[in-house]
Amino acid sequence: MAGLIPRHFIDDLLERVDIVEIIDRRVTLKKAGRNYTACCPFHNEKTPSFSVNPDKQFYYCFGCGAGGNGIGFIMDYENIDFPAAVESLAAVAGLEVPRESTGNSAQEQQRRSQSQNLYDILAWAAHFFQTQLRQHPNKDQAVSYLKQRGLSGEIARDFALGYAPAGWDNLLVAVKNDAGKNSADLNNDRTKSSSTRQKQRIQQLEASGMLVKKDNGDFYDRFRERIIFPIRDNRGRVIAFGGRVLNDDKPKYLNSPESSVFHKQKELYGLYEARKANRQLDYLLMVEGYMDVISLVQFGITNAVATLGTASSIFHLEKIFRHTSKLVVCFDGDNAGKKAANRLMETALPAMKDGREICFLFLPDGEDPDTFVRSQGKEVFFHQVEQAMPLEALLFETAGTDINLNSGAGKAKLSQRALPLIQQLPHGVFKQLMLSQLAEKTGAELTLLESQLAALPTPRNTSASSNTAANTNTR
Ligand code: UTP
Ligand code: MN
Repeated sequence: MAGLIPRHFIDDLLERVDIVEIIDRRVTLKKAGRNYTACCPFHNEKTPSFSVNPDKQFYYCFGCGAGGNGIGFIMDYENIDFPAAVESLAAVAGLEVPRESTGNSAQEQQRRSQSQNLYDILAWAAHFFQTQLRQHPNKDQAVSYLKQRGLSGEIARDFALGYAPAGWDNLLVAVKNDAGKNSADLNNDRTKSSSTRQKQRIQQLEASGMLVKKDNGDFYDRFRERIIFPIRDNRGRVIAFGGRVLNDDKPKYLNSPESSVFHKQKELYGLYEARKANRQLDYLLMVEGYMDVISLVQFGITNAVATLGTASSIFHLEKIFRHTSKLVVCFDGDNAGKKAANRLMETALPAMKDGREICFLFLPDGEDPDTFVRSQGKEVFFHQVEQAMPLEALLFETAGTDINLNSGAGKAKLSQRALPLIQQLPHGVFKQLMLSQLAEKTGAELTLLESQLAALPTPRNTSASSNTAANTNTR
């Protein structure tokens, strides 16, 4: 008999799929404000009382009371059981459903409740920082910094920006006080004594990287005197923070360390917000920084995401391609930008299935998307997006660097450099076209190139090597 489906897989699956898409494929939905409505498929009605909430990822019928998440919908709509519904959703998401023996389920239960505690404590911390931005006696310093960067209060709210005041124990003191109040409902732990609660929450704050333990066993706040950017997962749960100094101190940005709910190599800042702002993402823009994402949104460009101080990994790219088929990556026009673009191109090659597209936008030297959109405006930025360089152009440009293409030797060299790159593309039309282009550029017979391609050693696994962090000073 098949074993249990691990809980974390179900969580992951729900995070990857969008309930609006799941339902819309079966029942045509109409947008109504933030939600979507339809006539309820579970009872007879003439006016729609069935509503789908994309933020919370659930549906509810005000007529008959039916409601639940994407899996529940499929179960009821298709009249199948839970495992079958999970299988059906997983197939759409391109995932294989793992099974575990029943013996693990207690462990699994524990792991899950620990993660839930981290989500709860991180939400609590996010709320704390947001409150400080509104109420702390020194909030003016933070508020005027944000103003000086050109951010509106509305944007600060949408991105849930906060402020970690100066001092070593603001969060620590707050969590102790809060745990002391019996009204606290964090972790459903009203029944515990306040000292037990305190201990547990401090532990959770440590596990999520918010508190750092000293040698003597005491704790201090990781984020001090910084603007706080909550990082949210696909479901809008806070999973980590970035913090920026208000002056020229170093490091400029500090990020939460890895934790059981935060994996830097997989998360993209702004993706939750981009999905929330757009029913459909024609393309996603990848930029470098938190401020780039936010500035673009302020200028009405609501489809930007950023990696978190690391180079883009294959996980980032696969995640992006789950939400759109086109990615435009922004880089500085300088040498470092070109290098980063080349690295991304190489990382991306194995992910370039037919139908997917990546373009590279090089900004003028010294500009980032934040400064560029502020000085040039939205239209100029969009124009740059339209002019962005397709991956194939970058591939041939890179392979052709410092080569004289008028000579036979130069053409042979181009082929020698381009073939290992082309080899990494998945089989398909795109790969074939790239090979034809190479044939055209070199004048070599296509069949010769094909046989050379087949004779190349199998490529090393590029995904692991592409995960190197670009910034080492961030942890
Ligand atoms: P940049 O140094 O390009 O800064 O870092 P920025 O985004 O333009 O920042 P502003 O405009 O000065 O505020 C780009 C990204 O690299 C990561 C952060 O994610 C940042 O957004 N980074 C940078 C760090 O993690 N740590 C650092 O010390 C610097
Ligand atoms: Mn910047």
